[in-house]
Amino acid sequence: MRISLALPLLALYSSQFSSAKTSKTCTVKPLGHGKDDTGQILKAMAECGHDGHTVIGPGVFNITGKMTWDLKSSTVDVLGTLNFQPDIQYWLQSENTYRVIFIQDQSSWFVVTGSDFVIDGHSTGILQGNGQPWWEYFQNHTRADGDGRPVSLTLSNVTRGVISNFKIESPPFWCNAIADSRDVVYNGITCNATNGNPGIDTYRSDNVSLINFDVTCGDDCLAIKGNSTNILGKNIVCRGGNGIAFGSLGQYQQFNDIVENVVLEDIELQRLDPAIQPNMGSAVYFKTWTASVHGSPPTGGGGGGGFVNNVTVKNVSADRVSLPVHVYQTNGGQSGDLPSQLRFSNLTFINFTGTALSGKLVDIECSPAVPCPDIVFQNFNVTPPSGSSASFICDNVISITGLPGPCTSTGH
Ligand SMILES: *[C@@H]1O[C@H](CO)[C@@H](O)[C@H](O)[C@H]1NC(C)=O
Ligand SMILES: *[C@@H]1O[C@H](CO)[C@@H](O)[C@H](O)[C@H]1NC(C)=O
Ligand SMILES: *[C@@H]1O[C@H](CO)[C@@H](O)[C@H](O)[C@H]1NC(C)=O
Ligand SMILES: *[C@@H]1O[C@H](CO)[C@@H](O)[C@H](O)[C@H]1NC(C)=O
Ligand SMILES: *[C@@H]1O[C@H](CO)[C@@H](O)[C@H](O)[C@H]1NC(C)=O
Ligand SMILES: *[C@@H]1O[C@H](CO)[C@@H](O)[C@H](O)[C@H]1NC(C)=O
Ligand SMILES: *[C@@H]1O[C@H](CO)[C@@H](O)[C@H](O)[C@H]1NC(C)=O
Ligand SMILES: *[C@@H]1O[C@H](CO)[C@@H](O)[C@H](O)[C@H]1NC(C)=O
Ligand SMILES: *[C@@H]1O[C@H](CO)[C@@H](O)[C@H](O)[C@H]1NC(C)=O
Ligand SMILES: *[C@@H]1O[C@H](CO)[C@@H](O)[C@H](O)[C@H]1NC(C)=O
Repeated sequence: MRISLALPLLALYSSQFSSAKTSKTCTVKPLGHGKDDTGQILKAMAECGHDGHTVIGPGVFNITGKMTWDLKSSTVDVLGTLNFQPDIQYWLQSENTYRVIFIQDQSSWFVVTGSDFVIDGHSTGILQGNGQPWWEYFQNHTRADGDGRPVSLTLSNVTRGVISNFKIESPPFWCNAIADSRDVVYNGITCNATNGNPGIDTYRSDNVSLINFDVTCGDDCLAIKGNSTNILGKNIVCRGGNGIAFGSLGQYQQFNDIVENVVLEDIELQRLDPAIQPNMGSAVYFKTWTASVHGSPPTGGGGGGGFVNNVTVKNVSADRVSLPVHVYQTNGGQSGDLPSQLRFSNLTFINFTGTALSGKLVDIECSPAVPCPDIVFQNFNVTPPSGSSASFICDNVISITGLPGPCTSTGH
């Protein structure tokens, strides 16, 4: 690793942060020949992670253990590949990962924390999660929330951080999570999980922009979890998976989950070849647990309150999506459960086009305890397959406007 002093050019990178006093650069090159690069990257972060500039790569870096980058007034250029060694039994031992994402006790092998930083992958930086053996392993091992299967990239306790033009390939589990953070901008992220893994999650975070995302996965493309406020998602392509999720919410009896002021725009859902990815569930869906508690998180739970208010989803194009818009409040529920107390309101859906796999285009089943006011559709033009007619379901909806046909109750 080379350390040089005071490059005036660096001011360019950090000029957007008034507090940046960039004074040093660390450049890290792969050691090669089966050597472990984790130590030298952590050393560079210790030396240049505050008021500095770090250049990682080009080349492939062998990452064998958990890493935290604590960045303050700092820029990091990732020009190479962070190749996380696929040693499943190692990573599954709890001491070998972090537990900074409270919800469902998820574990992380790579955590970025701090303030006023830019991590730029320049469209060449890659986090290689080597997920294939994980995927095979979990075909005959039961996967339980919190069992140590690591989230690939975790932002935790970040203020004013930018991640741009970076790719996450083959994540063992969630691609990315943003937790306990604010004023975060992600721009230009590709996540390619060719199996059943979720994409991006936000939790307990405020003012997060997710722009130019391309997510291939079999689970939630983007999941907006509890206490996500002022979220913008723009220009997002979901290739396969469940679609964009709000939730699940209300899993923790002791917490209110609040989701407010969310705009999602320019969203494209693409159904893939079923041999690669069999599902393309919804454009957008909303789910809460019931008010009854069954077991405890990470796997069980329920009983949490809160609300989801002021969500706008616009300019959505759907390609053979199973159920374009879906709201349900019975996640993890059993018959006879108390109805959820978590209210949805002010949900607006504008300019939807494309196709659905069946006639049921919209299914909004709100909780009888907290019926949904102010559901608005404008220009909802998703078409059912030829031969089936469009249908819309509304249970416990106080007011809904703009659907191209009647919304009928199932009587639930
Ligand atoms: C990574 O480093 C470990 C420990 O030194 C070594 O056993 C392994 O072969 C290396 N892997 C690669 C892909 O270089
Ligand atoms: C897991 O299942 C695969 C087939 O799906 C099999 O080849 C493999 O041996 C099994 N592994 C274990 C550890 O049982
Ligand atoms: C979050 O970061 C701030 C500094 O940026 C620090 O003071 C605080 O202790 C951190 N909180 C946690 C929970 O780590
Ligand atoms: C939201 O975050 C962006 C990017 O860090 C920042 O420019 C903006 O001022 C923040 N907005 C608010 C209301 O704090
Ligand atoms: C994702 O990875 C698969 C397998 O490596 C590849 O076929 C596919 O083209 C990739 N998708 C994107 C959007 O990069
Ligand atoms: C969300 O914020 C509310 C209000 O600040 C708080 O009461 C609740 O515990 C938070 N929920 C979570 C999941 O942190
Ligand atoms: C709804 O959320 C949007 C996006 O954050 C915001 O601009 C708007 O002011 C919010 N509307 C209300 C009534 O608060
Ligand atoms: C709608 O979103 C697509 C990307 O999915 C974009 O190309 C197009 O420009 C957007 N249309 C409008 C009117 O913003
Ligand atoms: C819905 O939004 C309006 C403002 O547009 C606000 O007055 C109302 O309180 C919101 N509804 C709920 C249940 O928060
Ligand atoms: C919806 O689409 C129409 C026609 O493409 C466009 O004029 C309008 O601005 C769009 N509305 C929103 C809110 O983006």
